[in-house]
Amino acid sequence: MSSSIIITGASSGIGRAVSKRLAHWDGCLVLTGRSRQRLEEAKAQVEEHGGRAAVFPCDLTEPASVDDLVAYAETQDSVYGVIMSAGAGTYGKVEDQSAGEWSHVLEVNLLGPYHLARTALPRMATREKGHFVFINSVAGFKTFPGNSAYVAAKHGLRGFAETLRLEAREYRIKVTSIFPGATNTEWWDKQEGDFPRKRMLDVDDVAAAVDFALNFSKKGVVEELVLRHRAGDF
Ligand SMILES: NC(=O)c1ccc[n+]([C@@H]2O[C@H](COP(=O)([O-])OP(=O)(O)OC[C@H]3O[C@@H](n4cnc5c(N)ncnc54)[C@H](OP(=O)(O)O)[C@@H]3O)[C@@H](O)[C@H]2O)c1
Repeated sequence: MSSSIIITGASSGIGRAVSKRLAHWDGCLVLTGRSRQRLEEAKAQVEEHGGRAAVFPCDLTEPASVDDLVAYAETQDSVYGVIMSAGAGTYGKVEDQSAGEWSHVLEVNLLGPYHLARTALPRMATREKGHFVFINSVAGFKTFPGNSAYVAAKHGLRGFAETLRLEAREYRIKVTSIFPGATNTEWWDKQEGDFPRKRMLDVDDVAAAVDFALNFSKKGVVEELVLRHRAGDF
């Protein structure tokens, strides 16, 4: 029986590349993000590659919308996997950032994945199979000045994912965290400064890692993967 995979952040960057890469999945890819138009473009890309996709716009900072997303995905095929790629960042020293900016970064990168995992988990648990893949960052274990909210959110996300792995293994549900270094996406268009795009990973590198983790041995789990440009962080 085919099963669905929810992909957050599917409208752009890494999430979009993951959607294309998983076009071979035997089931529906449920693509989510806020921009319906960009999700429709991602869906068309999946279909061009022979896959099946459905679009469900959702703001991850709204828990009710997250509940609707999971319910919708279950109407396509029962949910097997959730790839959490949506993310947001701000830049600035602690004293220069508003509380609103700071908490928004936590809402998108940490609370959103929590709501989504919490909603999807009971359904996956009854079927005794499933896989959560978190697109974390090297900021999940390393610190960068000027990035306190993002670093705090990604450190928190690592801890959340590890705890979830221990709790969910009794239901045979796997949890993978992927920690990419800088990756060439629109993310960097939103940051001030001139960044060396050639010193970044490509989105397809990260998508290949997600595919590997999902299709790794039936009894094994890829717990964590760190991905970097061979020249290291800049
Ligand atoms: N690029 C890098 O260098 C890099 C490195 C390490 C880790 N990462 C991580 O990789 C993930 C993807 O980043 P990216 O580089 O692909 O960035 P991106 O191209 O800017 O994509 C960000 C995605 O997040 C979605 N999103 C943002 N706020 C949202 C919200 N409130 N609700 C639902 N979706 C929301 C956006 O969709 P909408 O705008 O349509 O809502 C978009 O699809 C992030 O978690 C990021 O932390 C990135």
